[in-house]
Amino acid sequence: MPPAVEWSHSGSRLILLLSSPRSGSTLLRVVLGGHSRVVAPAELFLLLFPDFDTWRRERPLAIRSLVEIFELIGIPRPRADIEAACRGKPIEEVYHWLLASLPADTALLDKTPAYATDPAVLERSRAWDPFYIWLVRHPLGSIDSFIRLKQQELFWPFGLARRLKDGLQARLFGGMSRRARRREDLWVRQNRTIRDFLATVPPERKHALRFEDLLYNPAETLGMLCGQMGLVPEEGMLERAGRQIVRGGLGDPNFHRHDGISTAPALNWRTRYDESILSARARDLVREIWRRSRAD
Ligand code: A3P
Repeated sequence: MPPAVEWSHSGSRLILLLSSPRSGSTLLRVVLGGHSRVVAPAELFLLLFPDFDTWRRERPLAIRSLVEIFELIGIPRPRADIEAACRGKPIEEVYHWLLASLPADTALLDKTPAYATDPAVLERSRAWDPFYIWLVRHPLGSIDSFIRLKQQELFWPFGLARRLKDGLQARLFGGMSRRARRREDLWVRQNRTIRDFLATVPPERKHALRFEDLLYNPAETLGMLCGQMGLVPEEGMLERAGRQIVRGGLGDPNFHRHDGISTAPALNWRTRYDESILSARARDLVREIWRRSRAD
């Protein structure tokens, strides 16, 4: 039996998984959710909103993630019950209620890439003293993943037209379509926001990891993350990769296409992009993050 989790320094048991979209956050969420002391539902989006009613109106799909929390802890509650308990409440109270509903020594993992867009959202998270995970993927990996996903989501003639347009723009505009360049801007903005925010968080309450390391050295990378959180890794966590665990709607729709952890997504983008097309801002930031992760 692993030792009790040291959540004590927080008094609360919230883990925030911060990343830019398409950085492997669904994979990490599912793997961490395989720990008996971590409850890891799909995207919650809660921190983005001041109160439950606004959240309910603006992110109607996310109610499924609250239902999932109760299923995961083995005390299923109907959606209507959850709505009745939270209606009219500020988001702080909703978190307190959720955390109080968890079994003892269990943490809630809240993975919502949209949190990284706004420093004010990260500031608000301090109220729960969370443990922060910063998951970083090479910008061209995230960009390429996003562009392919958007093409795949369109009915095929439109998907083909989108591919041709993106390809033409890439030739005209220095290797990247306008859409891809906007994603690069987002990658820079979000990762800078996370970096600057985490600079103010004590070392024992945060951990940064690279998506690429998770793919190439999953056991070691997961072991370091768990160790920093005061958790002993458990059997079977990594075997959850690619399983029929993720429901449709929120998170990575291609999650089930993998059979276990595959290293291909670490390199796929290299067949379509050359690193030299990155803007100086993105190149400098990715180098800084890589340097820092080697020094840790
Ligand atoms: P690609 O589209 O480049 O393949 P997110 O969950 O943050 O949206 O990230 C999605 C990325 O994680 C996708 O990248 C996806 O393939 C990758 N991913 C998901 N499960 C994986 C697995 N088992 N092994 C390797 N990569 C995985």
